[in-house]
Amino acid sequence: MAWTKLATLGELPNDTVIEVEHEGSLYAICNADGEIRAMSGVCPHEGGPLGQGTVIRGMVVCPYHMWEFDSRSGACLVDDRMGVPIYRVKVEDRNVLVDLPVENA
Ligand code: FES
Repeated sequence: MAWTKLATLGELPNDTVIEVEHEGSLYAICNADGEIRAMSGVCPHEGGPLGQGTVIRGMVVCPYHMWEFDSRSGACLVDDRMGVPIYRVKVEDRNVLVDLPVENA
């Protein structure tokens, strides 16, 4: 794993999510009531862009069919077999660093 800057705090007002592409992979970076979290940006249902969704009470909601994913655990609230990978996050100097798998760093 490698810490990689994917966003800045200024891009992430409270209860928003953004889509970030890095080395060919999509990530959804969200601010869930003040806590910055990161998950895969590809919905496991039909590939919807989670980073273009919304954040409601800590859940990232896919814009395609409104499936909800817990931004803390990656668990899918609609189908518990359909979780998404999550990644560790730290904030340094207002930069959002995400601990990515080495092949994506
Ligand atoms: S593609 Fe995300 S809910 Fe269907």
